[in-house]
Amino acid sequence: MRILSGIQPSGRLHIGNYFGAMRQHLALQAENEAYYFMATYHALTTVKDPDELRALTLAVAMDYLALGLDPGKTVLFRQQDVPETTELAWILSCVTPMGLLERATSYKDKVAQGLMPNHGLFAYPVLQAADILIYLSDIVPVGQDQKQHIEITRDIATKFNNQYGEIFVVPDAYILESTAIVPGVDGRKMSKSYGNEIGMFEEGAALRKRVMSIVTDSAGVEDPKDPETSTPFLLLKLMASPEETAQWAERYRAGGMGYGEVKQRLLELLEETFSPFREKRRQLERDPGYVEDVLRDGGRRARAVAHQVMERVREAIGLPISYTPPV
Ligand code: ADP
Ligand code: TRP
Repeated sequence: MRILSGIQPSGRLHIGNYFGAMRQHLALQAENEAYYFMATYHALTTVKDPDELRALTLAVAMDYLALGLDPGKTVLFRQQDVPETTELAWILSCVTPMGLLERATSYKDKVAQGLMPNHGLFAYPVLQAADILIYLSDIVPVGQDQKQHIEITRDIATKFNNQYGEIFVVPDAYILESTAIVPGVDGRKMSKSYGNEIGMFEEGAALRKRVMSIVTDSAGVEDPKDPETSTPFLLLKLMASPEETAQWAERYRAGGMGYGEVKQRLLELLEETFSPFREKRRQLERDPGYVEDVLRDGGRRARAVAHQVMERVREAIGLPISYTPPV
C-alpha cells in the first residue's frame, strides 16, 4: 500500500500531532511504501517570515527522524521540492465545484480565528488533494480534523476520473478512534493555533508547569468524578496500559482522589514516553547537514513519482509538454 501524509511546519509539534498522526505514520512505514512531507506551501497561509518557515520546516523533519522515521525506506521531503504539485492543484481547481470548498469548515474556522481570508486559505483543500493524488496514495493517516479534507480529495479525484479517465486512486483516510482528537490543556482540541499544546520535546520545569496548568473542574478531593470528561485522564489514557487506565477510572468514580495525583502520573508517563527520543533529537540538531541531505534525497524520490503521474495527467487533459524538461 502507498501511504502519504503531511504536516504543516507552522509551529513546534505537540503530543496531539504525535498521537493523532505521527505515531501512525511511523507504525505504517514498516509494511508499506510511505511518503511524509512538510506542507510548506500550506504553512505559507500562516507563516509569513521566510527564516521562521525554513527553521520550522527543519524542526519538523528533525522531529520525524528523532521519533524513528527510517529515511532509507520512507520518503521524507519538503512540499516545495515537488513543484508539480502546484501545477496539479490548478488542474484540479478546474474540476472542483465552488460549493465543495464553501462547505469546508477549516476555512471558516481559520477566518473566525482572525486569519486573512485570502485565496490560498480558501483553495487550501485543492492543494491538499494534489498532494495526495499526485502519488496515487491509497491511505492517508491523519487526525479527525482532517477528515473533511480527505473527503474533498475523494470528491475531486472522482470528478477528475469521470471527466478524463481513471488516473487517480480514490484514497481512504486512516483515523484511529482512540486518538482522533487529543485535548489540549484547556480541554479544547490541542492545536498550535489555540496555544493549548503540550510540546513533544518539552521537558523539566516547563513540562511540569504545562501539565499542572491543565484545566479541571472544581470538584473536591472527596467527590466522585467522571473520567471521560476529564482532560488529565484523557491524556493519561494515551500512554498508560489498559489495566492502569481502568484503575484510574475506578479511582475517579470512587472519589477520594485529587487531580494533582493524576497530573503527577501523567507527567511521569510523558517523561517515559518522550525522553528516549530527546537524545536523538539533540544529536540531529547538531547535524543539520545530515537532515538537509535526507530531505534533498526525499525530494528527489518523491518528485520522480510525481513527474510520471503528471505526464499521464497532462496527456489525459490534452496539454502534454512539447519538450523534455531538464529535471
Ligand atoms: P495544528 O492543529 O496544531 O496546527 P496540524 O494541522 O499541523 O496541527 O496537524 C498535523 C496532523 O496532526 C494532522 O494529521 C492532524 O489531524 C493531527 N492533529 C493535530 N492536532 C491534533 C489533535 N489535537 N488530536 C489528534 N490529531 C491531531
Ligand atoms: N492540512 C494538513 C494539516 O493541517 C496538512 C496536509 C497538507 C496534509 N497536505 C496534506 C495532510 C496531505 C495529509 C495529506 O494537518
